[in-house]
Amino acid sequence: MRAEANHFGTTVTTAALPLLSAFTASELDGTTLAVIGGGSVAALAATISLTDPERRRRLQAEEVGGGDKEVVREYFNNSGFQRWRKIYGETDEVNRVQKDIRLGHSQTVENVLKMLKDEGSLEGVSVCDAGCGTGCLAIPLAKEGAVVYASDISAAMVAEAEKQAKEQLQAGSEKKVVMPKFEVNDLESLNGKYDTVVCLDVLIHYPQSKADGMIAHLASLSENRLLLSFAPKTFYYDLLKRVGELFPGPSKATRAYLHAEADVERALKKVGWKIRKRGLITTQFYFSRLVEAIPA
Ligand SMILES: C[S@@+](CC[C@H](N)C(=O)[O-])C[C@H]1O[C@@H](n2cnc3c(N)ncnc32)[C@H](O)[C@@H]1O
Repeated sequence: MRAEANHFGTTVTTAALPLLSAFTASELDGTTLAVIGGGSVAALAATISLTDPERRRRLQAEEVGGGDKEVVREYFNNSGFQRWRKIYGETDEVNRVQKDIRLGHSQTVENVLKMLKDEGSLEGVSVCDAGCGTGCLAIPLAKEGAVVYASDISAAMVAEAEKQAKEQLQAGSEKKVVMPKFEVNDLESLNGKYDTVVCLDVLIHYPQSKADGMIAHLASLSENRLLLSFAPKTFYYDLLKRVGELFPGPSKATRAYLHAEADVERALKKVGWKIRKRGLITTQFYFSRLVEAIPA
């Protein structure tokens, strides 16, 4: 039996899924589902509709005594921290799927840096990186001269980000960089004003109803730009996610939500913002819609 987790933090176990048993988990990509096609997809959808991922989600929340946020905090301080530190790091101890997610994520970071630098130098520009993880964006932003405020709900992630920043920014740097200011904080509790606010691959952990409030709060912190990335909700990605949800795996994956671009756009419009630039980053197991919004 092979089991591997995809970008949604869920696990695909092929041997347990007869319909897909001819494929290894790492082959379960867009092409594979397209090849399965027609009636088989209908059968797969029927199988999926018999499961109850919501029930599993409720149990996860009860275990840590709270809702979405408590589950997410607990996950990223424990098994999620171990998993994502490897994915976002440079270790070779990653499987094929994790390597693919690493590649997709690094492309998202590159795209963000490009979008930001397209508007001019980042020297002295204040940037709030909300949900900074291990500092994959905060550190290159600091290298570009930005004044970075990076925060995350997970103390473990923040400690790792700080460690990485010290290693990468202090050691023999020719240019004088301002060390990012790191903080353990829920993004909805952040305050202050920043030129630019960025929130990458965080909304995936929250349903649209919650994401609406988060987007509004992030926009209120920003004077000029808000960059968001999220897993786009399309028929295919929805199906893939639901397949993954059938098999949560031993790592106790957190819940994952897809967001329709129109819903994100609506949430931005409600607080007087509009999308100026869009990008889509896809690899085999990583799907991320990147948008840059500005005041309308
Ligand atoms: C998939 S990681 C992405 C990390 C980082 N943004 C990156 O792209 O490298 C998601 C991160 O969001 C953080 N997170 C989740 N919910 C959050 C919240 N409500 N406030 C702040 N951080 C949150 C998690 O702890 C985790 O570090």
